Amino acid sequence: MRPNEPRHRRASGPGMALAVVAALVAAFGTVQGEPLTVDDAIKLRRAAFALQGQYFGQLKPMAAGAVAFDTRRADALVTRVTALSQMAAEFFPAGSDQGNTKASAAIWQRPDDFAQRERALQTELAALARSVQASDENAFKSAVATTSAACKACHEDFRAR
Ligand code: HEC
Repeated sequence: MRPNEPRHRRASGPGMALAVVAALVAAFGTVQGEPLTVDDAIKLRRAAFALQGQYFGQLKPMAAGAVAFDTRRADALVTRVTALSQMAAEFFPAGSDQGNTKASAAIWQRPDDFAQRERALQTELAALARSVQASDENAFKSAVATTSAACKACHEDFRAR
């Protein structure tokens, strides 16, 4: 930046970071350390699931052969889906079956089954990550299918339609 360029022109740096935090607080009404409301938890997990859907959705055309198998891109996508799925699982506080949500009350009635579905997804994602690291396209194709089945299994049991 030239010395007399106005600060607000900068598109990065601390000012930008603060603007991002301010936008997040405006969107989710929460700051670090404050207790999360049920509505905020719902917004956060839905955002994490929406991103999971977006990133996992990019793996499907690769598995179908419509897009070339690109191990670098696939690795990045699997890493994101894995992190996002772990984040989503952290935002199911008691009472958050009520509100702008499709989460089924069964999540809180059968928490062990819900946790088992979550673990099953992590197991499939780990196998998917291994197939990408090994550049094994056939293993990748079947792992995308079994991972997708793990997503659907949980939705069938725990997401209201
Ligand atoms: C352990 C259970 C579970 C697993 C596994 C799971 N989901 Fe979900 N998913 C849910 C629940 C519950 C909701 C509803 C959340 C809500 O409305 O509060 C949801 C919602 C969604 C949504 C809708 C988000 C929105 O816009 O509100 C998408 C997209 C989604 N999941 C994608 C996926 C994908 C892709 C996978 C696999 C990589 C996956 N989910 C795995 C439980 C799960």
